[in-house]
Amino acid sequence: MLTDKRILLIIAGGIAAFKSLDLIRRLRERGAWVTPVLTRAAEEFVTPLSVSSLAGEKVYRDLFDLTDEAEMGHIQLSRSADLIVVAPGTADLMAKMANGLANDMASTLLLATDTPVLVAPAMNVRMWEHPATQRNLATLRADGVSIVGPNEGDMACGEFGPGRMSEPLEIVAAIEGAMKVGPLSGRRVLVTSGPTHEPIDPVRYIANRSSGAQGTAIAEALVAQGADVVFVTGPADAARPHGVQLVEVETAQEMMRAVQGALPVDAAVFSAAVADWRVSSASDSKIKKTKDGLPTLEFAENPDILATVSQMAEGRPDLVVGFAAETDDVIENATAKRLRKGCDWIVANDVSPETGIMGGSENAVTLISDKGAESWPRMSKGEVARQLAERIAKTL
Ligand code: C5P
Repeated sequence: MLTDKRILLIIAGGIAAFKSLDLIRRLRERGAWVTPVLTRAAEEFVTPLSVSSLAGEKVYRDLFDLTDEAEMGHIQLSRSADLIVVAPGTADLMAKMANGLANDMASTLLLATDTPVLVAPAMNVRMWEHPATQRNLATLRADGVSIVGPNEGDMACGEFGPGRMSEPLEIVAAIEGAMKVGPLSGRRVLVTSGPTHEPIDPVRYIANRSSGAQGTAIAEALVAQGADVVFVTGPADAARPHGVQLVEVETAQEMMRAVQGALPVDAAVFSAAVADWRVSSASDSKIKKTKDGLPTLEFAENPDILATVSQMAEGRPDLVVGFAAETDDVIENATAKRLRKGCDWIVANDVSPETGIMGGSENAVTLISDKGAESWPRMSKGEVARQLAERIAKTL
């Protein structure tokens, strides 16, 4: 709930502005006070009357409005909120924010504030992918601005790709996460992610095809529910999640130590694809090609992190979730794995190459618990993460 939280909502000029009307409604339903600010361009997409009717408050529009200044100056306005939300965040407004420009009400408020800021970007896919926008995005993140979305999909301009503003409920979840008021606030959750690299010698290693995308999405979904997330990741391709305590490791043994260092936690989600074996005969110097034949690698078993934590006699997390990436008899194997490892849930998926799941953006999972197997329809990894995080919040 957002009872009595004050949100300054800046609506910039993009077609996604129509979704901000619904966002206001959703925020009001949750007990928040919404003070709306419209840019000039936003008024081409939504009217000040509809915005102020839904918000139940006056709309701020003009930097040089003497009545507004007499009632509440723009500096005071910028600091009166618990959170400033920019939705939609256009390429133009993000560029102004990143560069400290202040030539209208919205950009001046954003420069004058010391309140946390959340941006929900929305723009054409080419504008989003443009190096200038990506540069501005990186600057904003480095300045501590939180970002939600954008989502991928069909765009109002007829193109396809990332650039659609997040849906109102996703923005509400991000707002709750930014304010740490979600159902998991005060809860500490551990997430492992990515592959591990097991060295053969200083330049070679054994790895697997895990991208870490699902783990990153799960961590972000848990943050959105208000959790304090410790994210232990191997060398994954996926971007690191924002708003987490990040621990980067390389090998399974390092991951085990990092996990032990992160305990105690309320819940642990083991989505990492940990190598089962390491090379026990790993060399300190590069193995040379010789005429004497091929090198022989000897293996040792890696610690099973999931099983170790699941079977802790003391201090076991209340909920332990494992993953099972299978290529055959998915449900049967995953059900047996849950019992063998001692975890509470297993999220099973079929990673046969023809599914395109490993390294792809979608996932089709079956959640296995003591209540049986529940197959979820194929959906984006972000949506799987959101539903899993909601389930965790309900269970803890
Ligand atoms: O045994 P298998 O690798 O199929 O089990 C997968 C699950 O176990 C995943 O949740 C993975 O993160 C976890 N695991 C682990 N430590 C290992 C191997 C797997 O935590 N050494």
